[in-house]
Amino acid sequence: MSVLAASRVPGAQLHRKGKVREVYEAGADKLVIVASDRLSAFDVVLPTPIPDKGKVLTQLSTFWFRKTSRLVPNHLISTDLRKFPRVFREAKGLAGRAVLVNHCERIDVECVARGYISGSAWTEYKALGTVAGEHLPPQLLESEKLDRPIFTPATKAESGHDQNITRAQLAAMVGTDLARELERITLALYEFGHDYALQRGVILADTKFEFGFYDGKITLIDEALTPDSSRYWDAATYRAGSVPPSYDKQYVRDFLTATGWNREPPGPALPEEVVRGTTQRYRQAYRKLVGKELS
Ligand SMILES: Nc1ncnc2c1ncn2[C@@H]1O[C@H](COP(=O)(O)OP(=O)(O)OP(=O)(O)O)[C@@H](O)[C@H]1O
Ligand SMILES: [Mg+2]
Repeated sequence: MSVLAASRVPGAQLHRKGKVREVYEAGADKLVIVASDRLSAFDVVLPTPIPDKGKVLTQLSTFWFRKTSRLVPNHLISTDLRKFPRVFREAKGLAGRAVLVNHCERIDVECVARGYISGSAWTEYKALGTVAGEHLPPQLLESEKLDRPIFTPATKAESGHDQNITRAQLAAMVGTDLARELERITLALYEFGHDYALQRGVILADTKFEFGFYDGKITLIDEALTPDSSRYWDAATYRAGSVPPSYDKQYVRDFLTATGWNREPPGPALPEEVVRGTTQRYRQAYRKLVGKELS
């Protein structure tokens, strides 16, 4: 096990620091992205890192990038530190959690696909009978499988919570053709991931992708089909009409809710037992999906 709250790479130019990742410049049109062990819940980064979380996110994303490269090009160049610029080879703690990628021009949209009705989609449906502004059949149960997966985009807020938008709003933002392509690719990736996961006893309820442009082509960036970007359920215990226990951050969210925290920063520290339970869940998600232990 290893723990990294934040990476430090002397001599490298920090391009941006996100909630979970440090992004460094790595030459003209390349970046090195390092996934730390920070965990954000309700959009607040918690003070306690989760050992190995960044490795799970990086290695699971890499697994999916390789599996889905026929569906859409992705940003991944290499995970082999020996191929990174020298400053990264000399930095400490990057092994297994850093990737060299093509620097893409980001499309500022969260591309969400949902095959089951849960989370914010369930909240909207209960109140209005719609999801992302579109009507769904009446009398759906919480967590029920939808007839077919739906695309529910959201804007990427610079700070605070992402805002759900309709497909029409997306088309107005980025143009009809690009909106249609983003929807097509997002649903194709979701269906691939869903079917693959199901063979391994895991339900991919919903997930979020980010895309950018590289060489004029729509390219999958950031992370892919991880427990941070996806809602994964155990297929064996799944039942519509209940909220299935998931491999995602629900475990930590439940703990945080029980503390009565008002969801404003700073977040509370996590007790050792919750940290251990969370590491276990991330590693278990990797083991289930990839079929081997995280190295
Ligand atoms: N290939 C790429 N080219 C350009 N930007 C990328 C690429 N891959 C990932 N990114 C960006 O790098 C950042 C990764 O950091 P992290 O996931 O911690 O951010 P975040 O807190 O989720 O931030 P954001 O609010 O931007 O989503 C994100 O802003 C993501 O959009
Ligand atoms: Mg992110």
